[in-house]
Amino acid sequence: MESINRLLENNKKWAADTVKKDPDFFTGLQHVQTPEFLWIGCSDSRVPADMISGTVPGEIFVHRNIANMVVHTDVNLLSVLEFAVNYLKVKHIMVVGHYNCGGVKAAMSNHNYGIINKWVRNIKDVYRLHRAEINSLETEEERLDRLVELNVIEQVNNLAKTSIIQKAWKYEQRPHLHGWVYGLNNGIVRPLVDMTHETHLDEIYEFDDL
Ligand code: CO
Repeated sequence: MESINRLLENNKKWAADTVKKDPDFFTGLQHVQTPEFLWIGCSDSRVPADMISGTVPGEIFVHRNIANMVVHTDVNLLSVLEFAVNYLKVKHIMVVGHYNCGGVKAAMSNHNYGIINKWVRNIKDVYRLHRAEINSLETEEERLDRLVELNVIEQVNNLAKTSIIQKAWKYEQRPHLHGWVYGLNNGIVRPLVDMTHETHLDEIYEFDDL
């Protein structure tokens, strides 16, 4: 069987099995979604949001891109964030990186990836900010792992720098922001950082007229 057809066959089987287990599963979900979580993860095929978190359809709103970036000129990310925060009213947003991330590896190399350079440059900026700490580590693997972690933390900070988050923090004391890193080798998610409405950023990023 062609591999693409296998997916359609799987889908039929999944839909039938799901209805067998819970006859109201799809009818309950078709008109409304009320997820509490926004997941901002890497596009990497080995890091599936719902499988890792043991959630089912309807529970997580998902945005994925190369290396789980929060780039302030990315209209796609900003639209997802605006919708999740102000329409879905999510309580938690997690930025989920993963060890051995190809995007982060690309950023640490000097290879020219063409148009992808423009995206990866944002990760190089994180490296430049933390160069001393990263370069103090002994092996290439340790340096890569640390940049993966620091990149997650930086992207959580980037979320907090948006007026979308600062406004929601000021008026609704949500959402909580979380930085997680996932191990491809063991399936475990490790929390790295949490931020709430009580967190203060470097003051140059705080808006006073929200
Ligand atoms: Co990745």
